[in-house]
Amino acid sequence: MRIERAKEMGFCFGVKRAIRLVERAAREYGHLETLGPLVHNQMVVDGMAGRGVRAVDSLEEISGPRVAIASHGVGPQVFEEIRKHHFQVIDATCPWVARAQKAAQRLTQAGFLVILLGDAEHPEVKGVLGWASDRGIAVQNEGELPDLKGLPRRLGVISQSTQSPERFAEFARKIVDLGLGRSIELRIVNTICDATPRRQAATLDLVQRVDAMVVVGGQSSANTCRLALLCSGSGVETRQVETADDIEETWLEAHHRVGVTAGTSTPDEAIDGVVRRLEELAGRGVSGAG
Ligand code: F3S
Repeated sequence: MRIERAKEMGFCFGVKRAIRLVERAAREYGHLETLGPLVHNQMVVDGMAGRGVRAVDSLEEISGPRVAIASHGVGPQVFEEIRKHHFQVIDATCPWVARAQKAAQRLTQAGFLVILLGDAEHPEVKGVLGWASDRGIAVQNEGELPDLKGLPRRLGVISQSTQSPERFAEFARKIVDLGLGRSIELRIVNTICDATPRRQAATLDLVQRVDAMVVVGGQSSANTCRLALLCSGSGVETRQVETADDIEETWLEAHHRVGVTAGTSTPDEAIDGVVRRLEELAGRGVSGAG
């Protein structure tokens, strides 16, 4: 069995920046609480806990005088709540997410209804829609679009930062098609961050040369799940694992070339652990061929 890593994978700029900011604050103040997990990866959350960083679900659970905002960002309503509690803020919102928030705010201020391609339950999406006040909706695909006849004439189309550019283009095209023949005004703003397409391209390149893919990253990490979908959509057998412990020997028996990729919230330790485990299995002859 041969193992190959994707040319680009793992921590993105926004995640590295968030970890750096929060670690620095924790060193300075002794301990710190983050509103929600800093990144969607348990290994990172556990590692941060060892450095005095605790994730809480609500502002009411904060015991200290300060709170850190994760890379996914939050809406202005949350900042308002923080202000009322007189907490000091360590804002680790990724600059790419902040760009999407500004786009949502700008669109709504100009009278557009924001249609966001993304998961309404994801913290980033909730935060971005918060900046659109109550003039934004999130849909996961074209099928979830409401009838345009019932929507305002001005529509602004944006995306969750981790969508694939192709999916977003397809989605925006559908709205253009649906709007033809109606008097609508459309603004399409590309809010996909550049880490996402680069990792997706590196993964799709690797998929050509392997017969199985292992995607390393948390189930709650949107971009990791999307990488797994891209791999399985290419017809290659795909498994998503969080750590090396999730790798099942039997699964590898029929495979000769295994590719490894990882989401933007996956630490190098997790990737290296998975590669080591695969190499160990390959060394024991667990595959279709050596
Ligand atoms: Fe930011 Fe993109 Fe990473 S939005 S947190 S650089 S995946």
